[in-house]
Amino acid sequence: MKTIILKIDPNKPQKKIIKKAAEIIRKNGLAAFPTETVYGLGCSALSRTAALKVFAAKNRPPDNPLIVHLADVKDIPSIAYADQKKLELIKQLSPGPVTFLLRKRKIIPDEITAGSPKVAVRIPSHPTALALIRESGVPIAAPSANLSTKPSPTRAAHVIEDLRGKIDLILDGGRTNYGIESTIIDLTSKVPTVLRLGSFDIEELKKYFPNLKILKKTKTKVPGTQYKHYAPLTPMISVERKVLGKKVSQLSKQYKICVLCSRETGEKIKLKGIKKIILGSQKNLKEIAHNLFSCFRKLDKSGADLGIVERFEEKGAGLALMNRIQKAAQKTAQCFQRG
Ligand code: TXA
Ligand code: MG
Repeated sequence: MKTIILKIDPNKPQKKIIKKAAEIIRKNGLAAFPTETVYGLGCSALSRTAALKVFAAKNRPPDNPLIVHLADVKDIPSIAYADQKKLELIKQLSPGPVTFLLRKRKIIPDEITAGSPKVAVRIPSHPTALALIRESGVPIAAPSANLSTKPSPTRAAHVIEDLRGKIDLILDGGRTNYGIESTIIDLTSKVPTVLRLGSFDIEELKKYFPNLKILKKTKTKVPGTQYKHYAPLTPMISVERKVLGKKVSQLSKQYKICVLCSRETGEKIKLKGIKKIILGSQKNLKEIAHNLFSCFRKLDKSGADLGIVERFEEKGAGLALMNRIQKAAQKTAQCFQRG
């Protein structure tokens, strides 16, 4: 399949380009587009066939449901059940990097939700995403536009790398703003529960949901979190800043190392022949979160046989950041523990 790649002004998306993308969506084709979190691989959320195409293009396990994107909170009742109180809360938190799990209406096919009676709904704030949803006239189902098990794409180049030849269109709107996926909250449970940590500030969320529960890492209620997501192909471990230099010097005797660290730590580690990928400044965890997935992809191109990534404080933006780092490093850490 020939994939059309079109540059688009992310903030003032050209009407002609949006029209073209919307036509593809309406005809049950696949179009990748930027959102404020990561790039999404969009299809009509009302079409079974389109949903199946998304799973095939991404090589995504069929039991992992897709998030449905809308342009406005007022469109929620047409696809999901939500009382006035819930709608009011969603309205206050949207548009933005937060997704709500609700009970679905029949109009959303089971292929979208992988058989679940619940649907994940998000109203993105990205002008291109919003224009595309409006112009399409249908809700748009969109998982992250990467191959399954690869890190989420934060630039069109990542989408091109993974999906060129497998989808109809890629809208290149430059870098995404956050770089980590949306926070997912289950509003169908008795107590509102965070199923996936993400780009929405958790402290801010607690203001709206004072009894907010955060699901422990071990309890996997979001199907997607069971898989080895967000991981580079290169084995990778995460190490505390204090011992990073020592660990690098030890392991570099056996492995070709590449270090992923903050600028400040990078300046301290001065080992000959060690490659470094700078994630950003320690003082700005948002910047580090923004660059993380892109740096994972750089690691795979570095020729190293082991990545060592610096750990950061699990507070504020550091919560979702460390969640993604730990996930990426999980498999390798298990191998190391086994010896
Ligand atoms: O920021 C984001 O959320 C991006 C952009 C494109 O919106 N999307 C994204 O989609 O990250 P995806 O498919 O890569 O991750 C969605 C996660 C998966 O872990 C999936 O299992 C979960 O949301 N999910 C989707 N629908 C669900 C449902 N009905 N019930 C439980 N979990 C659901
Ligand atoms: Mg994903």
